[in-house]
Amino acid sequence: MAQMSSHMILLLGLLLLGLVQQSVGKESPAKKFQRQHMDPGNLINNDNNYCNHMMKARNMTKGRCKPVNTFIHEPKELVDAVCQESNITCKNGQQKCHQSSLPMTLTYCKQTGASKYPNCQYRASYLTKRIIVACEGKIYVPVHFDASV
Ligand SMILES: *[C@@H]1O[C@H](CO)[C@@H](O)[C@H](O)[C@H]1NC(C)=O
Ligand SMILES: *[C@@H]1O[C@H](CO)[C@@H](O)[C@H](O)[C@H]1NC(C)=O
Repeated sequence: MAQMSSHMILLLGLLLLGLVQQSVGKESPAKKFQRQHMDPGNLINNDNNYCNHMMKARNMTKGRCKPVNTFIHEPKELVDAVCQESNITCKNGQQKCHQSSLPMTLTYCKQTGASKYPNCQYRASYLTKRIIVACEGKIYVPVHFDASV
């Protein structure tokens, strides 16, 4: 019996360690979406320096230059609420995408032709378009930026 409970404690300890490691080491898809696509504070940043700075600051130029990325300049609540819109099919065929009913303020960053890792260079376009995001989770929130239309 004593043997059993010490095993149980060890098992529980390992389980807890695993959970802690997971929460420290691994970014959730929702957090990743926030890091890669959310920038509610900056409303007018229609220049290449914005993209060059932000792509780096948000860790999208590590190991390689992420070729394209869209930043959303709207409040988190508004972007999260897109998940409540009726579902549409994503580019990859999954049916968990949702389109915003209203256009949103966006900056689209695209890697320039001359840009070479590790000197990732981007061109910025300022857009006002509806967004399509994929949503997931018990708290159903955006996890992937699918398109702007
Ligand atoms: C970028 O990566 C560094 C090192 O891995 C980390 O400390 C930092 O928090 C990351 N930045 C963002 C915005 O996630
Ligand atoms: C919406 O999601 C439901 C359930 O996942 C699915 O059955 C339905 O086909 C989806 N609708 C569209 C338009 O993708």
